Amino acid sequence: MSIESALNENRLFPPSDAFTSKSHVPSMQAYQALCAEAEADYGGFWAKQASARIDWHTPFTQSLDESNAPFYTWFADGTLNVSYNCLDRHLATRGDKVAVIFEADGGEVTRVTYRELHARVCRFANALKAKGVQKGDRVVIYLPMSVEAIVAMQACARIGAIHSVVFGGFSSKSLNERIVDAGAVLVITSDGQFRGGKAIPLKPAVDEALAMGGTGSVKGVVVYRRTGAPTAFDASRDIWWDDFQAGQAETCPPEFVSAEHPLFILYTSGSTGKPKGVQHSSGGYLLGALASLEWVFDFKDNDVFWCTADVGWITGHSYVAYGPLAAGGTQVVFEGVPTYPDAGRFWRMIQDHKVTIFYTAPTAIRSLIKAGGDLPGKYDLSSLRLLGSVGEPINPEAWIWYYNVVGGARCPIVDTWWQTETGSHMIAPLPGAVALKPGSCTFPLPGIMAAIVDELGEDVEKGKGGFLVIKRPFPSQVRTLWNDPERFKTAYFPPELKGYYLAGDSANRDLDGYFWIMGRVDDVLNVSGHRLGTMEIESALVANPLVAEAAVVGKPHDIKGEAVVAFVVLKGDRATGDAAKTIAAQLRDWVGQQIGPIAKPDEIRFGDNLPKTRSGKIMRRLLRSLAKGEEITQDTSTLENPAILDQLKEAVK
Ligand code: PRX
Repeated sequence: MSIESALNENRLFPPSDAFTSKSHVPSMQAYQALCAEAEADYGGFWAKQASARIDWHTPFTQSLDESNAPFYTWFADGTLNVSYNCLDRHLATRGDKVAVIFEADGGEVTRVTYRELHARVCRFANALKAKGVQKGDRVVIYLPMSVEAIVAMQACARIGAIHSVVFGGFSSKSLNERIVDAGAVLVITSDGQFRGGKAIPLKPAVDEALAMGGTGSVKGVVVYRRTGAPTAFDASRDIWWDDFQAGQAETCPPEFVSAEHPLFILYTSGSTGKPKGVQHSSGGYLLGALASLEWVFDFKDNDVFWCTADVGWITGHSYVAYGPLAAGGTQVVFEGVPTYPDAGRFWRMIQDHKVTIFYTAPTAIRSLIKAGGDLPGKYDLSSLRLLGSVGEPINPEAWIWYYNVVGGARCPIVDTWWQTETGSHMIAPLPGAVALKPGSCTFPLPGIMAAIVDELGEDVEKGKGGFLVIKRPFPSQVRTLWNDPERFKTAYFPPELKGYYLAGDSANRDLDGYFWIMGRVDDVLNVSGHRLGTMEIESALVANPLVAEAAVVGKPHDIKGEAVVAFVVLKGDRATGDAAKTIAAQLRDWVGQQIGPIAKPDEIRFGDNLPKTRSGKIMRRLLRSLAKGEEITQDTSTLENPAILDQLKEAVK
């Protein structure tokens, strides 16, 4: 494989003295000293971090255990409770500090202090216990962005139950698959959610998911009343949130668990049709969130932190539901969308809540530039001191706009590369130390042995591209895939790569050693910063009675980063004209129902066949070229019917 970097970005943005003088890691030397400490004594380095940052119930005596590779463990004989670390430990010193500033879609603001949040989490945890939910049981959470979502997650953590949050944009079918795979005993949802001024139902998807079967493990459904819209209610199974926790005490002793006890499962797309249940630990995961908050976000007690990610994604786990609370911070949680009531919403909220650290995705930045690139100038954004980016590579143009227009050329941008599987930031600048290059996530965090290798696991020289790997196990890494340890091994630790963790991304290091992420090397797309497996969309398409065969690829998209393009062979004749339009619309809706609206193909193209090699493998590279509208320069001599290429050139309009 040879991957060359297309980027040639040489602008350098060193940290200002004003920023550096107050930052936790204030120089390249300080950063390098941390890295050197980790190199010299890897287990000792992380043990020291874990002791310093986490309140342990029983201190650990072991650090990294590699005896059962790749099922690594960290701090395994230590016990802790993550919710205790997020709430109880702050009560004496920060009880009246605001933990969450919640702004609803319609603009109402609610502030919740640490003491109040603690009481709410305890009450809900007691209700879970009263319902019979036990340590190790799985609880599926299907809630909108809300304080309740955080309460539900923290309450599970408090009693040692394992939550699996399913993003509210996923369909009933996706929800069903996750409930079944996790063997959930309880589902927590809401009647609906407000987004962009509209009330959107959520509970019907739960009803449908539970009607699909395989869900016999579910003992009940807790429903938080958010919109008040009428919703079907099965009193033998469903209970309103308020009734569920009525009369429960506001204290609940935390269940202390092993550092290796699973904190949560989060399903994510891989390169097969079945999502992977990424299982995270308690101790190592919490350590990753805490260390990265300090190193990358340079987090301080007086910061107002705002991560715009939904709790349904890993970013909303590590940098909304757990990290900022574990650090004792104040954070903004937002229910709505960035364009309602207008595209100045984010900037108005930064002004109103005096946000100091703002963390969002390149897709949001690009769409806000388009919707009103001058709007930030109308607001007072002087509270900001640091900006962050996550989910996909940020193109230099968006970076420069973010830096100048939002950050007033004053705030470093931390471009954070990481994944659902890594739990916390892996490659990202320490902003008081590292000079930034727009579009580069710069250098690995201390103690993260990231590298770029060829297909035999050999380091490639600087300036050359290759596979992004992490050479040594790190505390916050995925422990296994729920119900599928074999897939865990083969997906992440292919033997030819010397046991390194394979991220699935290609990357390049420039001559200064900066990392540049180039995109996925597997069949996973990144649409608006969300991971979608092409196989998942293909399986959804072929499950439609009209479809004989389907292949899905990505193509570059201005706002979303990547767009989904589906090539479809119907069971009957190839659709053309108006029939093609109707069927394409049906298939888009179908994919929306099967997976969720985010997976709907942007384009559908019909052919009599798909281009295949002699052995019958779909020629995806060729499809990618077709999707991009490129001239076909590849060898097509093996194609049975070259005329199909012409058919596949045009999207159904
Ligand atoms: O391809 C990389 C891209 O997002 C993938 C991980 O997706 P997910 O597990 O959904 O987590 C997203 C939020 C952490 C990666 O394999 N990615 C994530 N952050 C970046 C990125 N690509 C480039 N630069 C980033 N900062």
